[in-house]
Amino acid sequence: MVREVEKRGMRLGKYELGRTLGEGNFGKVKYARHIDSGQGFAVKILDKKKILDLKISDQIKREIGTLKLLKHPNVVNLHEVLASKTKICMVLEYVNGGELFDRIALKGKFSEAEGRRLFQQLIDGVTYCHDKGVFHRDLKPENVLVDAKGNIKISDFGLSALTQHFRDDGLLHTTCGSPNYVAPEVLANRGYDGATSDLWSCGVILYVILTGYLPFDDRNLAVLYQKIFKGDVQIPKLLSPGAQNLIKRILDPNPCTRISIAEIKTDEWFKQDYFPANPYDEEEDIFIDAEAFSMQGVATDTEKDPGSPTLINAFQLIGMSSCLDLSGFFEKEEASERKIRFTSNILPKDLLEKIEDIVTEMGFRVQKRNGKVCNLVVIEIHLGILWVQLVGR
Ligand code: ADE
Repeated sequence: MVREVEKRGMRLGKYELGRTLGEGNFGKVKYARHIDSGQGFAVKILDKKKILDLKISDQIKREIGTLKLLKHPNVVNLHEVLASKTKICMVLEYVNGGELFDRIALKGKFSEAEGRRLFQQLIDGVTYCHDKGVFHRDLKPENVLVDAKGNIKISDFGLSALTQHFRDDGLLHTTCGSPNYVAPEVLANRGYDGATSDLWSCGVILYVILTGYLPFDDRNLAVLYQKIFKGDVQIPKLLSPGAQNLIKRILDPNPCTRISIAEIKTDEWFKQDYFPANPYDEEEDIFIDAEAFSMQGVATDTEKDPGSPTLINAFQLIGMSSCLDLSGFFEKEEASERKIRFTSNILPKDLLEKIEDIVTEMGFRVQKRNGKVCNLVVIEIHLGILWVQLVGR
């Protein structure tokens, strides 16, 4: 067990912590230097209490267990797992070229030859993990890092328990990022195959690499969902017919007819200049601190208020749309104002109080439009007034 960690210059076992490399859904990632070897690492710092509160410690333990099986040049390698009283620290391979997202933002887009090489590496890393029974479930350019040689390294593979839970908390627009990369069957929450839905996300990433734009985008979340459900995508005619065809085949909203990874590997456009990477074969045993999943001494907050509403997220809400009138959700972009819609498992009364406190402090006047109580809150900024509405069934 190591002392409390987080601040720059602090020690974490044999590592000295440095700058923050990123701040993900489930905690910070910091640079760390191994004191003896001087080698750089990235440390993902997870909050034990959060994991305990989400009741996913067994799942995380299992997932971290499977991560040690992943050894591939296109997948970020897990070196060891350490723990403090309140944190779980995953010591990962340090990837020094930043996020693919930043590369695209800098360049605008990649040429087809460069883009194909990146996509081939992405598919290699993804296939390797799938073959080990590990699915990502949150593939997006922010989770795809690039090393100094311009090679792809996928991060956060195997952390789907974290991904799923942070997606399920209902706060889609903040904690969970945007659903632009999420497959329609995942959004619909109809039960899905991890491999097929990861492949959809790879298709979205390929589109972004080659065009610099998202294939599905809209300021209005509900309109965005509709576009994804329909596979409503404009593919630039400037792309070669081979690239256009492959993107179309991957972004098929029907997971049953969507191209498979095996079929991608026989695709003419994909096969050009393809040199598949070989997985590393050494079986290094990684160290996992026994304290990592001990919750002794960690403050707990596991009692659930029996009166609290059932947790429901926006994906589930849309999946249930046959029994709920969601027509108000599917307005046209032109008609939409600046709205944030989210679901929450906090009691509506408490949630409203919290929102009122915060927005009053921000200088807004709060007016409540009453509806029957349900756990759907609509916040609108309209004519300079912040409207908070509880929507009844
Ligand atoms: N940001 C998140 N994970 C990282 C890693 N493994 N290396 C460098 N930066 C990162």
